[in-house]
Amino acid sequence: MLIDTYGRVATDLRVSLTDKCNLRCTYCMPEEGLQWLSKTDLLSDDEIVRLVRVAVTDLGVTEVRFTGGEPLLRPGLVSIVERCAALEPRPRMSLTTNGIGLKRTASALKAAGLDRVNVSLDTLRPDVFKTLTRRDRHKDVLEGLEAAREAGLTPVKVNSVLMPGLNADEAPELLAWAVENSYELRFIEQMPLDAQHGWKRDGMITAGDILASLRTRFTLTAEDDEERGSAPAERWTVDGGPHRVGVIASVTRPFCRACDRTRLTADGQVRTCLFAREETDLRGALRSGAPDEEIARIWKLAMWGKKAGSGLDDPAFLQPDRPMSAIGG
Ligand code: GTP
Ligand code: 5AD
Ligand code: SF4
Repeated sequence: MLIDTYGRVATDLRVSLTDKCNLRCTYCMPEEGLQWLSKTDLLSDDEIVRLVRVAVTDLGVTEVRFTGGEPLLRPGLVSIVERCAALEPRPRMSLTTNGIGLKRTASALKAAGLDRVNVSLDTLRPDVFKTLTRRDRHKDVLEGLEAAREAGLTPVKVNSVLMPGLNADEAPELLAWAVENSYELRFIEQMPLDAQHGWKRDGMITAGDILASLRTRFTLTAEDDEERGSAPAERWTVDGGPHRVGVIASVTRPFCRACDRTRLTADGQVRTCLFAREETDLRGALRSGAPDEEIARIWKLAMWGKKAGSGLDDPAFLQPDRPMSAIGG
């Protein structure tokens, strides 16, 4: 079991498969991209499957989410999913993606054993998409979303980050579209995890702003806490249901007390938290021939050191050295 000193148990593993991305969202990466990890830095497919196996069979992990960068850029993705689906006990598996390329791979991913996907889409306007992501790929994302729904990778969730002056006025429009298309929409408060270190609390659209904007057009009814469990999103039913909308308010309404996550970066470092300043090297242990028990012991020790929360409200808060795209979101 991966337990920390606050009694939280990590059963949800997020595995970053690459730090690369084919978009350049302004709240995440600079136009020129970043210094990418080299091939030898990255865990191999075998190493990833081995670490997931240790997590699932020895450490009580039940949910595995593949992230990036953009995980669809990883050539071995379908085979990694297939091999993880064969583990005992079989973990539930999901993917967080920008949706580009999903049209081509959705059915193969479903057949390999993937359960569901979360797709990032911040705007319904192609011109705003191009400004925000610096790429003209809006149509690919919409097609990817449809393909995921058709393939049964459901519930398909859509993640939207609202930015002042760009898409901040789109919340009601996005929700109407999501309801119509049976996607579960979640708005995410922007977090200080951008590579450019440009985040400012006063420049951020808050959960309160988002709810006020949605309530101009919809009746929202809060879901009770029990249904939420450890999920980062607080949810509301829309106009009496059955559709729901979520808000992931990491900044203004942190949910760290119920956190059940452990993270693995694409270069094999355990992170106890998105905002952690330390990492624990599992790749080194793997490559020096450590047996499963040793890997499990190092992982447990790392989680034992997990801090109470993100530290965002601490006046001395320091952004982690690695940006979101290298941590895995
Ligand atoms: P579901 O199981 O579908 O609810 O997934 P999820 O919302 O946990 O995952 P997803 O990858 O879609 O993440 C949505 C947003 O939540 C992203 O911006 C993540 O960075 C953020 N997020 C995910 N896990 C955590 C976490 O443990 N802490 C914080 N602060 N944010 C998180
Ligand atoms: N703050 C909040 N969300 C972010 N994402 C990427 N960078 C940030 C940030 N700084 C979102 C993406 C994607 C999800 C994994 O995280 O838009 O939906
Ligand atoms: Fe967990 Fe850290 Fe996210 Fe809080 S900020 S919910 S502790 S990963």
